Amino acid sequence: MTLIKQLTRYQQRVEAELEQRLAHGSIQSSLQQAMRYSTLNGGKRIRPALVYLVNQSLGGSLLNADSAACAIEALHSYSLVHDDLPAMDDDNLRRGKATCHLQFDEATAILAGDALQCIAFQWLSQQNNQLSAKRQLQMLQVLTKASGDSGMVAGQAFDLANVGKALTLAELEEMHRFKTGAILSAAVELGIISSNREISDELRLALLSYADAIGLAFQVQDDILDIVGDTATLGKPQGSDIAANKPTYPALLGLDGAREKLSQLYQQALAASQCLGDRGVPLQQLAKYIVERSH
Ligand code: IPE
Ligand code: IPE
Ligand code: MG
Ligand code: MG
Ligand code: MG
Repeated sequence: MTLIKQLTRYQQRVEAELEQRLAHGSIQSSLQQAMRYSTLNGGKRIRPALVYLVNQSLGGSLLNADSAACAIEALHSYSLVHDDLPAMDDDNLRRGKATCHLQFDEATAILAGDALQCIAFQWLSQQNNQLSAKRQLQMLQVLTKASGDSGMVAGQAFDLANVGKALTLAELEEMHRFKTGAILSAAVELGIISSNREISDELRLALLSYADAIGLAFQVQDDILDIVGDTATLGKPQGSDIAANKPTYPALLGLDGAREKLSQLYQQALAASQCLGDRGVPLQQLAKYIVERSH
């Protein structure tokens, strides 16, 4: 199966799961509407796909990966709702539609983000007869660590604190690893844990090195697309980083420098996935997709 077919299959799978899990009524209907609006809205679903791909490459069962796939997408969707708020990036378009705070209002967007964050951990902690409590606890630890002040939120805080400032390359790399890399690495770890397999330290290290490379590459390409992409294809405003004077790879290294960095990261991802042999091919294809994507 080609990667695109496989991605579509995983997108459909996670969307059906999310649709069902977010169908419950809420005491406040606008909250539920805002949660659904911000989640069931055409994201690429790269993080759930990564959970499923890694789970499958280790011979796991997709059923055991569903909660993790939904949890990481809910967490990511919350991070986008908050990232777009006036106090943060102040953007008006997300996934081709009005951002949550414009479609509803600011308070509802803040609360929808809060609730999506909580529901991610609720899903991860729901009883699963196939996975041990120990593995479920490990999954919770992985996602909490990657999301909070040792992961995504710290990266977001660093991003906002450095608007208009000149960062060193090391600082920029650190920021990208936190704000975007941490959640993508968590997707790989959730894929490993949900596979219900014991893996060698060597394989674990290789998968983590792959995750590190594609996690950073993902944000480098996001920064490049802010310059070379177009709003309709991106589904979010092109030029937003420049308008806000954001610290980005192209701002520091220029477009060519950013592209060079991207190609080095792609090579790192390919080298790391070698040790999976044939089972690593889908991961290599995903790395290619991430560095070549147009949205
Ligand atoms: C956008 O993520 C935000 C970053 C971390 C760069 P995606 O490019 O995965 O956005 P969606 O989920 O497809 O909308
Ligand atoms: C990271 O960066 C987003 C999150 C961690 C949520 P950006 O601010 O660059 O993401 P986009 O470009 O708005 O999607
Ligand atoms: Mg941002
Ligand atoms: Mg943003
Ligand atoms: Mg961006």
